Amino acid sequence: MRNRKAALSAIAAAASLALTLSACGQDSDGGSESDKGDAKGSTVGIAMPTKSSERWIADGANVEKNLKAAGYKTKLAYGEDDPDTQVSQIENMITQGVSALIIAAIDNKSLDNVLQQAKEADIPVISYDRLILNSPNVDYYASFDNEKVGELQGGYIVEKLGLKDGSKKGPFNVELFAGSNDDNNTQYFFKGAMNALQPYIDKKQIVVKSGQTKLNQVTTLRWDGGTAQKRMDDLLTSAYKSAKVDAVLSPYDGISIGILSALKSDDYGSKSKPLPIVTGQDAEVASVKSIIADQQTQTVYKDTRKLAEVAANMVDSVLKDKKPETNDTKTYDNGAKVVPAYLLDPVNVDKSNYKEVVVDSGYIKESDLK
Ligand code: GAL
Repeated sequence: MRNRKAALSAIAAAASLALTLSACGQDSDGGSESDKGDAKGSTVGIAMPTKSSERWIADGANVEKNLKAAGYKTKLAYGEDDPDTQVSQIENMITQGVSALIIAAIDNKSLDNVLQQAKEADIPVISYDRLILNSPNVDYYASFDNEKVGELQGGYIVEKLGLKDGSKKGPFNVELFAGSNDDNNTQYFFKGAMNALQPYIDKKQIVVKSGQTKLNQVTTLRWDGGTAQKRMDDLLTSAYKSAKVDAVLSPYDGISIGILSALKSDDYGSKSKPLPIVTGQDAEVASVKSIIADQQTQTVYKDTRKLAEVAANMVDSVLKDKKPETNDTKTYDNGAKVVPAYLLDPVNVDKSNYKEVVVDSGYIKESDLK
């Protein structure tokens, strides 16, 4: 049985287990030591990055729901965006003898040691949404087509500015924001967006007045909205004293909200100074409301209910010694191996289709958008 070693180490660590559990305040909804050796009925550890964003709260709940429906118990922990906290949460799960791990990493390079421990305890690891780097001990990756997310964002800007169909020639002023530099997705989102934007930058139909066009100049540590707001404030002061911003590439709704705050403080949104196009990602309630109110312009919907289902199915297959379904075995090289992945499709959302995409699908309740 694949998890026998984990079961044994769990029994050995039983004394410290109760202490560890109460000390770190993790959910503990079952998982007696006797059932750890069997796939069904065993406990799966789920490590999520933060509760500060509603998507991750929903991700955690949905992964638990799917696993429980398949007969597993779960332990779910949120690392509050602190890499060390996440590492110790995963260590605790290993000590507790979980049968598998589903991890959405905070810092994609901080998990090598702890994943080595997982390997030694014969615990399979699913990288959730964000690829864990530099470790051979990542079995599968469940995510979305991350480059396409960026292409949707950049493509939306090009289309809405009228550059795509040639109805406008520009030049338009566009500023660029990217996600956290310790999240592997960041480079894919940015690459996808630049695939769409770069040809127009080359033709000078798009101008980045700040001159900040390199990924390492535009990242936003831990996807923090306040950090993005501060950078947008600085850009407006330094590069837009006498010019207006026409569009802002934002990789994520929380960042978009920060950017919009900075813009509004600078009088954007008034009659003489319309708000620029501002993209986003995740279709979070606050941003969909903002889209309805003509503030944020676009977001990318990723059905995280499906992602949770894919990840739970991967665990179920691996624990039953079956091969999980994958649809990409080439793209996601983590530096130690190419991780077989199942990628879902992201969807463009704006005011014209939010209802059919996010409301009719049941992702957001219409009443929550009031
Ligand atoms: C990324 C994820 C995005 C967004 C962002 C900030 O890894 O793919 O959908 O949620 O983190 O949380």
